[in-house]
Amino acid sequence: MEKIIDLVNEHNNWRRNCINLIASENTMSPICEKLYTSDLMHRYAEGLPFKRYYKGLKYVDQIEDITEKAFKEHFKVNFVDIRPTSGTLANYSVFSALAKPGETVMTLGIDGGSHISHEKGGAIGMLKYEIEHVTYNPENLEIDIEKTGEKILETKPKFIVLGGSVLLFPQPIRELKKYCNEVQTKMVYDAAHVFGLITSSNFQNPFEEGVDIVTSSTHKTFPGPQGGIILANLDDEKLKTRIQNKVFPGFVSNHHLHRVPCLYVALREMQEFGQEYTSQIIKNAKALAKKLDELGFEVIGKSKGYTQTHQVLLNVSKNGGGKIVADKLEDQNIILNKNIIPHDSTDDPDNPNGIRIGVQEMTRYGMKEEEMEQIAEFIFDIVVNNKQVKDKVIEFRDNFKEIKYVF
Ligand SMILES: Cc1ncc(COP(=O)(O)O)c(C=O)c1O
Repeated sequence: MEKIIDLVNEHNNWRRNCINLIASENTMSPICEKLYTSDLMHRYAEGLPFKRYYKGLKYVDQIEDITEKAFKEHFKVNFVDIRPTSGTLANYSVFSALAKPGETVMTLGIDGGSHISHEKGGAIGMLKYEIEHVTYNPENLEIDIEKTGEKILETKPKFIVLGGSVLLFPQPIRELKKYCNEVQTKMVYDAAHVFGLITSSNFQNPFEEGVDIVTSSTHKTFPGPQGGIILANLDDEKLKTRIQNKVFPGFVSNHHLHRVPCLYVALREMQEFGQEYTSQIIKNAKALAKKLDELGFEVIGKSKGYTQTHQVLLNVSKNGGGKIVADKLEDQNIILNKNIIPHDSTDDPDNPNGIRIGVQEMTRYGMKEEEMEQIAEFIFDIVVNNKQVKDKVIEFRDNFKEIKYVF
């Protein structure tokens, strides 16, 4: 047993001494961490608040009801389901409610930035849908509206999924929705990465631009507990019920109740501090990208101002590729992911040419543009000059141990 306890302690200690730049992670506030380890983590609740299959839930019902209502009010939507325990399960639930096996759906394609759950290897493939991809231009990193629109009219997909895992710039939601409306194609937006930015109005708002359903994780730029959420403005009561039934009893039984109060608190934190926090995230991502560019790295999206989100995408093919670069950085306590970049073949996802950087977690610890420049210098020293800078990284991180933008 000691071994496991030691490993956990070592992990905690190590990651507290690292510059964490994984674009899909974040850390919860101290209040949320405390709430997370309550008795709720031992309990079961199936069904919806006040309509449960289990007993012992008189407080749980209230917690969940208050949380759902807070999200409905914040996003001005009439449908929220917080029960999916991950973004992937939120996707499964929505995708399976919108089409039947053999029917056609449209996605971005991995090189266009979509998530594996939108593609053949993930949920969409397992649901046995036929996949059409949007026409994506890797040169300007934009979806070709006209060609994609024509494809929508021609193939009449049951739904199209936008959003995605590599998301540097807004997408033409409004423009594509016009085509979707002509052939009754539903539009789903997977906000997993940018949910925090959307929550505090620092990115395009998919609801205002006409998306039918938003799915998301709740733990990337939105600094809540790991989990998923579905939000929508739907008049179709049957569709709402179908989605709810896909969540439970479809994909989730127990929905990990200890997440729920943390989700509520994270929303309140974002309402209070999110504007400042997410503005700083975007400023930091731009500052990091600019400095990396000045140091000679190939930053994808340079001609468009590098990024409008928390992400920075680098082509590191001349530095040995994404795997080698990510390994080297991890040795020096800088943690990030290799990533497929435009023009990469998807045949060998283990050896892509890129790395994806996210600044949302380090921003939460109070880092600003100046610190981003220092991080770029560390990356340059490690990747280009093969220097050992781990001690400097640890010393640097030591000044940023307290989470900001929280009550
Ligand atoms: C766009 C997108 N959707 C869904 C997911 C999956 O979320 P989860 O890890 O919560 O299942 C991810 C994961 O990073 C993602 O990037």
